[in-house]
Amino acid sequence: MFEKFKKSKKEPGSISEEEIVKGPIPNHIAIIMDGNGRWAKKRSLPRTAGHHEGMKVVKRVTKLASRLGVKALTVYAFSTENWKRPEDEVNFLLKLPEEFMGTFLPELVEENVRVQIMGNKDAIPTHTQKAVDKAVNDTKHNTGMVLNFALNYGGRAEIIEAVNNILVDYQEGNLHNKVDETLFDQYLMSAGLQDPDLLIRTSGEIRLSNFMLWQLAYTEFWFTDVLWPDFKEQHLLEAIQAYQKRGRRFGGI
Ligand code: FPP
Repeated sequence: MFEKFKKSKKEPGSISEEEIVKGPIPNHIAIIMDGNGRWAKKRSLPRTAGHHEGMKVVKRVTKLASRLGVKALTVYAFSTENWKRPEDEVNFLLKLPEEFMGTFLPELVEENVRVQIMGNKDAIPTHTQKAVDKAVNDTKHNTGMVLNFALNYGGRAEIIEAVNNILVDYQEGNLHNKVDETLFDQYLMSAGLQDPDLLIRTSGEIRLSNFMLWQLAYTEFWFTDVLWPDFKEQHLLEAIQAYQKRGRRFGGI
């Protein structure tokens, strides 16, 4: 359950939810959930065990983000480049949304979370498409936090697709104005969502890996060495606390 400001068992010096909600809460948090494979390797487990554990972390982070009043949470679940992985791992990763929705959807519905997907859905297996379509449909009237899955998503592919759709609309005579940033935003897969305020990447890697290249222009970045399956509520609070200390100027002074 997403009880309001549930008190976590605090370690000395740890950050409380009560403390965090006194400051500005990022409207949109995007997460590159990295390090599942290394987490599994350290335990002599198959890489898939790391992804499975990572899925559980998504549940915990979703609950906390929703409780804190975050408006949108985008998680990078499968990139357009992840097809290069061994077939078994790809199949496992593409089955995970089914398990996630199967076990967590009732809670998402109850807690007013709205599920969205961004990415090329056509290329993912039918069973996964069905599970995500059901989740999107069952939660479409929810008015709380948007949980946005980047699934078979790539930032460059998204931009190219937007440009091509603009060309089509232009050729069909449906576009009468010059393309500006506001219009371009509407052609992106993230249309309707504000740009992320905070990007989190786990596992010590400091790169974007083709994630939300347009949308992250003014986002605050927070990197941690923690591997995604080890990511705890405290880490999210830590990331938000760091965000609250940043001076965002958006190019101004
Ligand atoms: C990167 O770790 C992670 C991924 C490619 C997949 C992320 C997916 C999840 C966390 C599961 C969430 C899914 C749902 C449906 C909620 P990596 O495998 O590249 O790790 P490594 O760099 O240590 O090898």
